[in-house]
Amino acid sequence: MTFEKHILCIGAGYVGGPTMAMIAFKCPRYKVTVVDINPGRIAEWNSDHLPIYEPGLDEIVRATRGKNLFFSTDIEKGIRESEIIFVSVNTPTKTFGAGAGMAADLQYWDKTARQIRTYATSNKIIVEKSTLPVKTAQAMKRILTSEANGIRFDVLSNPEFLAEGTAVRDLEKPDRVLIGSTQTPNGLRARDVLVEIYANWVSKDRIITSNIWSSELSKLVANAFLAQRVSSINSISALCEKADADIEEVARAVGMDSRVGGRFLNASVGFGGSCFKKDILNLVYLCRYYDLKEVADYWEGVVKINDYQKDRFLLKILDALFNTLADKRICLFGFAFKADTGDTRESPAIFVARQLIEEKARVVITDPKALKNAMKDMEGVAGDIAYVEDPYVACEGCTAIAVMTEWRTYAALDYERIYRTMAKPAFIFDGRNILDHRKLFEIGFNVFPIGKPSLTHF
Ligand code: UDX
Ligand code: UDX
Repeated sequence: MTFEKHILCIGAGYVGGPTMAMIAFKCPRYKVTVVDINPGRIAEWNSDHLPIYEPGLDEIVRATRGKNLFFSTDIEKGIRESEIIFVSVNTPTKTFGAGAGMAADLQYWDKTARQIRTYATSNKIIVEKSTLPVKTAQAMKRILTSEANGIRFDVLSNPEFLAEGTAVRDLEKPDRVLIGSTQTPNGLRARDVLVEIYANWVSKDRIITSNIWSSELSKLVANAFLAQRVSSINSISALCEKADADIEEVARAVGMDSRVGGRFLNASVGFGGSCFKKDILNLVYLCRYYDLKEVADYWEGVVKINDYQKDRFLLKILDALFNTLADKRICLFGFAFKADTGDTRESPAIFVARQLIEEKARVVITDPKALKNAMKDMEGVAGDIAYVEDPYVACEGCTAIAVMTEWRTYAALDYERIYRTMAKPAFIFDGRNILDHRKLFEIGFNVFPIGKPSLTHF
């Protein structure tokens, strides 16, 4: 069959994989190829066990793989064949040199631009999917056009707003698709090509266009705003605990103002995930670079409150357990950074688990999807750590349970049964406020929610 368009994506990660699967699913007339430098990852995408867990993803990959969706390690062929190239390689926080701990590490990005330049034999539209510092498109364009080989490269910015756990739904029914381009005739023509791809399933009023710098910056700002909401509510949760107020009641009252809105106001042990912290630090770095100290400090506060919230959670456990955790078994319910994903990047559970080990506690970790990643995250940490799939078994002999991830299954467990097998006095620290605290208290637990008065038998 001859395809109408050939699309390539470089980077088969959490963003590239699902996004391309959706394009292939919605556009059978296009051939979509996803390449990656990691052959193991490509092999997994070609197997029955995809490298990432996302509700609904298996189905769309099964429906398209081998028909118009292909996973491959042949980057050169992919580049040659495609007229549109999405770049979705990772852009982690820099760990070395200038801007270490803050700025984005653009080495993979830079290498990918050079790869495209080397292998391209015809004009290409390059689409930035990765989250990048503003003005990256300019650097990309300069690298691509630094050899006068007569090939035209148009660079577009098309940030991905999907959230993990709901990636398929977010891709299928996005709040908006954002496409930034230069405002030249060629830039606008390239932009229209990308608009037409999305218009296969997204209504045109949800496809918004902008200048390329606004688009790059909007992604950083969108994540900063979302994270700021979580830090705002978490900061107030600390006050609620002192003032005998209830954070859920406060969030409801505040969120019902339609100007504020009720979503993303769940107090928690802290936000995690690969994006929030990285993107805010990136924004902070950019502001400092442009000498905007006050703006940088303002946004840095969002990350500081998040660190404070994780610390507070740990100190609360320590305080409640009579200031010593040595030899006590503590069970972490969930290790993923949020429910419905196996991803543990920047999960607050990593911090809590490590601190518990520092305090010489014995840590038992359970999670329906993230145990493999949890083992990797805890590699090299010397201490007593067990990984147990069954939450009932995981709790046996434990003094405390700490809920780290809002998996729905944890709310539905038989806590009378769990209570019977635990050491006494038994404690629950609900880092996600998903359990029935009153009922747990009546069973006999000492209960410590976030942003609400604790319920104790002492
Ligand atoms: C990543 C970033 O975290 C996010 O900020 C950005 O918006 C998109 O890229 P994610 O898909 O979650 O998101 O990253 P990851 O799962 O690490 O996938 C990136 C993939 O790119 C990896 O599979 C990696 O092997 C691949 N890669 C990296 C290349 O193919 N070539 C490279 O040069 C570098
Ligand atoms: C986020 C953005 O939502 C998405 O648009 C962007 O493309 C990538 O970054 P993601 O990190 O996958 O997505 O998950 P998200 O649902 O935003 O949650 C991030 C963290 O905040 C999680 O740890 C979550 O548990 C926490 N959170 C979220 C809260 O603690 N409270 C809330 O009310 C909402």
